[in-house]
Amino acid sequence: MSGKRVVITGVPGVGKTTVIEESMKRLAGEGIPYKAVNFGTCMFETAKAEGKVEDRDQMRTLDKDVQKELQRLAGKRIGEMEGNIIVDTHASVKTPVGYLPGLPAWVLTELKPDMVVLVEADEDQILMRRMDDESRRRDPEGSRSIAEHQGINRAFAAAYGMLTGCTVQVVRNENYLLDHAVEAMARVLR
Ligand code: AP5
Repeated sequence: MSGKRVVITGVPGVGKTTVIEESMKRLAGEGIPYKAVNFGTCMFETAKAEGKVEDRDQMRTLDKDVQKELQRLAGKRIGEMEGNIIVDTHASVKTPVGYLPGLPAWVLTELKPDMVVLVEADEDQILMRRMDDESRRRDPEGSRSIAEHQGINRAFAAAYGMLTGCTVQVVRNENYLLDHAVEAMARVLR
């Protein structure tokens, strides 16, 4: 495998995809190309082809063993990619039976990340962003629950560091300060 492999995580609606896209543009201008792969999209393509779901927001409700198999297949597919890769995914996924690790050991073995980045923001801001985004079917959740999820994600990220030796970084993406988040992410990726 050649290139850098960076896993970028954050609770739904924190703005990780926005920060990833903007920082990639900045780095492309500096001659540092990255390819971004959405882990959820890889899982969804398989789940849809097999008739298990109609939209990506249904995946969280699938049986956890089905989700695990979809994770494994996505990890294998992404693990085979070459070059500088960003994996846009989740440190943990909130399911009806508890927090599912986004990157269990057998997925990490395929991915071999150099770094895990947690994109975080104030939980009230995340709540407002979710409410403003009508394109998605978000699970109803209050700010306390979002804060808990961000805390759980830090615990999972620490475990991923222990398992693989990768480093763990936190990038804040606050309202009106997207540019700061993009610069912080670009610094991490350079
Ligand atoms: P995924 O595709 O990652 O979707 P998501 O979790 O719903 O996250 P989004 O992409 O919608 O949100 P985002 O945080 O990227 O925010 P965005 O940039 O859009 O995953 C889909 C599904 O796949 C998951 O639910 C799960 O089932 C499954 N999955 C994925 N990985 C998995 C794994 N490893 N294991 C198991 N299952 C997995 O921004 C949101 C909004 O905020 C936008 O309106 C944006 O304009 C706004 N915004 C962003 N930044 C700012 C800012 N600084 N100020 C103001 N507004 C801002």
